[in-house]
Amino acid sequence: MASATRGHFITLEGIEGAGKTTQRSVVLETLRRADIAVTTTREPGGSPIAERMRALLLDRDNQGMAPDAELLLMFAARAEHLRSTILPALAEGRWVLCDRFTDATYAYQGGGRGVDHARIAVLETFVQGPLRPDLTLLFDLPASLGLERARGRSAPDRFETEALAFHERVRAAYLTTAEREPERVRRIDAARATEAGAADVRHIVADYVGKAG
Ligand code: TMP
Repeated sequence: MASATRGHFITLEGIEGAGKTTQRSVVLETLRRADIAVTTTREPGGSPIAERMRALLLDRDNQGMAPDAELLLMFAARAEHLRSTILPALAEGRWVLCDRFTDATYAYQGGGRGVDHARIAVLETFVQGPLRPDLTLLFDLPASLGLERARGRSAPDRFETEALAFHERVRAAYLTTAEREPERVRRIDAARATEAGAADVRHIVADYVGKAG
């Protein structure tokens, strides 16, 4: 739980096609209804320099990037994002709602690419110190359904073009994190219709705000 003086840090996670973008507006609306000042942001990216790193990471021309280079770029972008956006907002007492954070690194670079968990943990502490999200909403659904939904959208990025097996490993890693930290990471069944997920989101966020108050 965050201290009384700093804002709270909420993150949204899930595989491709989980509907995070739609549900983000539900979280935002719930927080605003409670008169909470919120900064919304995303990873990789969320600040001008980190957005340039995002472009490198998602560019399909960079197929074959070394997994360690990908991992380090994710954390380089995160260091930049933390310094310029997240930490100043939290210090002002604003709440931060971030679309993906380090749980995505454990899922994609750890589960998906096979980078050792312990290597990621070292970088997590190096870049973030003790900062961890206070609440994480994990939108979960079978990878095949997620990919089907995602591929109906715009041109796929470097991660979206990965095979189904990659996305299944990503999902499994997310679920492992949720099992390990059930208090922080709340799993929402995203295979259902959007409104069913939205009702869960409103409930979880309102409950969290009530306890944080
Ligand atoms: P987005 O599609 O949600 O905007 O995220 C961009 C992609 O970046 C998504 O496929 C997941 C990937 N990603 C990682 O692989 N590791 C990370 O640490 C983060 C934050 C995102």
